Amino acid sequence: MAEQDYDLIVIGAGPGGYVAAIRAAQLGLKTACVESRETLGGTCLNVGCIPSKAMLHASELYHEAQSGALAKFGIDFKGVGLNLDQMHAEKTKAVGELTGGIEFLFKKNKVDWLKGHAAFTSPNSIDVAGKSYTAQKIMIATGSSVTPLPGVTIDQKVIVDSTGALALPKVPKHLVVIGGGVIGLELGSVWLRLGAQVTVVEYLDQILPGMDGEVRKEAAKIFKKQGFTIRTGTKVTGATVKGGTATLTVEPAAGGASENIEADCVLVAIGRKPNTEGLALDKAGLTVNARGQIEIGHDFQTSVPGIYAIGDVVPGPMLAHKAEDEGIAAAEFVAGLTGIVNHDVIPGVVYTYPEIASVGLTEEEAKAQGEIKVGKFPMMANSRAKTNRDTDGFVKVIADAKTDRVLGVHIIASIAGSMIAEAALSMEFGATSEDVAYTCHAHPTHAEALKEAAMAVTGKPIHM
Ligand code: FAD
Ligand code: NAI
Repeated sequence: MAEQDYDLIVIGAGPGGYVAAIRAAQLGLKTACVESRETLGGTCLNVGCIPSKAMLHASELYHEAQSGALAKFGIDFKGVGLNLDQMHAEKTKAVGELTGGIEFLFKKNKVDWLKGHAAFTSPNSIDVAGKSYTAQKIMIATGSSVTPLPGVTIDQKVIVDSTGALALPKVPKHLVVIGGGVIGLELGSVWLRLGAQVTVVEYLDQILPGMDGEVRKEAAKIFKKQGFTIRTGTKVTGATVKGGTATLTVEPAAGGASENIEADCVLVAIGRKPNTEGLALDKAGLTVNARGQIEIGHDFQTSVPGIYAIGDVVPGPMLAHKAEDEGIAAAEFVAGLTGIVNHDVIPGVVYTYPEIASVGLTEEEAKAQGEIKVGKFPMMANSRAKTNRDTDGFVKVIADAKTDRVLGVHIIASIAGSMIAEAALSMEFGATSEDVAYTCHAHPTHAEALKEAAMAVTGKPIHM
């Protein structure tokens, strides 16, 4: 066979693709990564995880100062102001530092960045900006983009997607979020804290589909207490925009009389779809499934030998850390090693206040599989949460009734996103609830609530 330009070409430099490219290069493969954006890092670094967390952090600081919530700690503020341009500037700086960091890592590891849009010309060749490149193996890591809602056209001014909602030039008076999922609640929180009235319109009977039922109920209660208006079981059937105001037509999901809601900003956040358009998959002999995803085997190889796929473009949760771990494992397979991702233990975090985190099975899923035991501990009874005055939420541990093995952990707490790591590690090591309960936890920490919830599985928490 004629010599190829590269051992591996990765298409897409998001958390899946850039991590795969670096790992492949570390393993001695001659590697290139194609990216059509001006900067590396994909959705996550440019318009996803990082800028949204920057806005969540900044808006929380503003809200704490502005709402008088700090007064009870003896911290008085007068005349707290919002400089939204500065808030955006700090976010942009963080994004720039991180995307620049990936460029540095590419250079350090000798990964070539091929700038432009890639399209297959055969199973082992692609075209990028009019030039042809060949590789022994090709990995598709093209990610996802927003799912459009028919009748509600995104103009990035009045009707925006998450990218638009991360960069609004002023605080809306009334923001309507279509979709009570992760994006809707995170970005809804940002603008609620900055002063907008926020209405969430959710098609299903409850927000946060896929999460544990009790968590969904408690989360809705907390968000309503914060000032969100949440309209579940409601669908948007159309939108018109006139003079900076959108008029949305909504009706009960089950059918019934329609009504109008007016808003000066509408965020469409009803899910994301895999990016495969313009890739010329047919030239590689590839097809997509009914959900538009590329199917893969245990080794991340598609139906065409030598072509791999990872991240948002393949089945599974659309999460950056899932994409990263798949990127590492797939690169290891490409290099002839065995890569491993335990898809049963992928944590998920919603970065609202409080945070909502979960790993493993929900109570509903676990019950459907067999007999279980459940231990719960409220943050109200955790000494650190009480001291910090952040007592909303609980920890729930689900264990197998016979083996006591931990099957799932669900947490609502101010720092649930950090607390869930311990639960994931426990599950990865096959821990029982007793193992967690008898592990010494530092005092006073929020993490003690996990220990006590594990103790509650067999009925013996101390502080309740
Ligand atoms: P992507 O990050 O989407 O990267 C794919 C890249 O491929 C893109 O840069 C794209 O330009 C490029 N590309 C596509 N097609 C081509 C082509 N043909 N040629 C060249 N380049 C191409 N996940 C979390 O885990 N935590 C979070 O806090 C979080 N927050 C989020 C907030 C928002 C607002 C959004 C929208 C998403 C968030 N996510 C979060 C999800 C996370 O961003 C994705 O799961 C993750 O980015 C997927 O990584 P990926 O590598 O598969 O794809
Ligand atoms: P999502 O799937 O989390 O939520 C979409 C919501 O919209 C669902 O509740 C769904 O029932 C609802 N919906 C669908 N059609 C509707 C309609 N016509 N009218 C009203 N509601 C409708 O998707 P979202 O929030 O867009 O996020 C996309 C992806 O990005 C998620 O899969 C998530 O994994 C990822 N993400 C992850 C984050 C994190 O890890 N913290 C943060 C943001 C996004």
